[in-house]
Amino acid sequence: MNNTVVSTILIIGFSLVLLIIALLAFKLRQSLWDMHEQMQKAYIKLSQAETQMEHMLQQTKNSINIAKEEAVNATGLSALGFQFPVFLGGPSIDAWHARHLLFILQEYKPRTILELGSGSSTIIIARALQLMDAPPKLHISVDHESRFLKNTQDLARQNGVEQLVTFKHCPLQPLAGFDLPWYSGIPEIVADTKLDLVVIDGPPAFAENMDYAREPALPVLRSFLSDNAVVVLDDANRPGEQTIVTNWLKQYPELRRLHIPQGKGIAVLTLQP
Ligand SMILES: C[S@@+](CC[C@H](N)C(=O)[O-])C[C@H]1O[C@@H](n2cnc3c(N)ncnc32)[C@H](O)[C@@H]1O
Repeated sequence: MNNTVVSTILIIGFSLVLLIIALLAFKLRQSLWDMHEQMQKAYIKLSQAETQMEHMLQQTKNSINIAKEEAVNATGLSALGFQFPVFLGGPSIDAWHARHLLFILQEYKPRTILELGSGSSTIIIARALQLMDAPPKLHISVDHESRFLKNTQDLARQNGVEQLVTFKHCPLQPLAGFDLPWYSGIPEIVADTKLDLVVIDGPPAFAENMDYAREPALPVLRSFLSDNAVVVLDDANRPGEQTIVTNWLKQYPELRRLHIPQGKGIAVLTLQP
């Protein structure tokens, strides 16, 4: 073998080694890049998990705070000394609503009360005014369902306040100008009375397409409100109730609104001084 052949073989061999090294380097770079991408994805997932954990932690803290506040409210309300349990929450007003109702009763001492949607609220109002030695002249509690009205009447009797409340069964019926039915006979029941307190917690508005079930309340009752009347609308955090209040404020600019967001939310409407 002459030198030229040896050199050629060496060059080819060397080139092959270089090519193999280059291929291996390329493969290694590819693997490193893939690893980098996988690590980046894992990092994003970890960050998302961390955000979710922080969100869950915040929600848990909020729930604990709400439960604490409810316990404080319930403890305060126990001073009403019921002889038979009066439950709050669920279909009834919540403890926040009850707490604010007590403030309103203490501040305004209403002489004439109309409740749309009877239940625990009826007993709380009657019992609180009894304890304050400020029995109203008239406390009407309305329900569209006779069985719920009877439940409330039984609860009132069991708690010694039945005689303080006038119970009215007012089935729902179509009302001109509104899409949904509303309580029948309210203007006749209220008659010449000027109302100091109206609590609107009915008709039920939780079902689909029932969002504006409570809208007729103010148009029907506006002319029956006394000069320093207070109107309380329950479930005021719901979009339907918020629209109702906005519409009422446009229709009756003399009303002032206080929105209390705690619990299910209540809207407290008063007349301008
Ligand atoms: C929001 S509730 C009224 C609650 C009442 N203000 C209270 O504090 O208990 C509105 C209407 O729902 C009906 N209702 C009461 N209890 C109910 C229940 N457990 N399930 C379904 N509807 C109920 C009654 O006809 C009531 O007038």
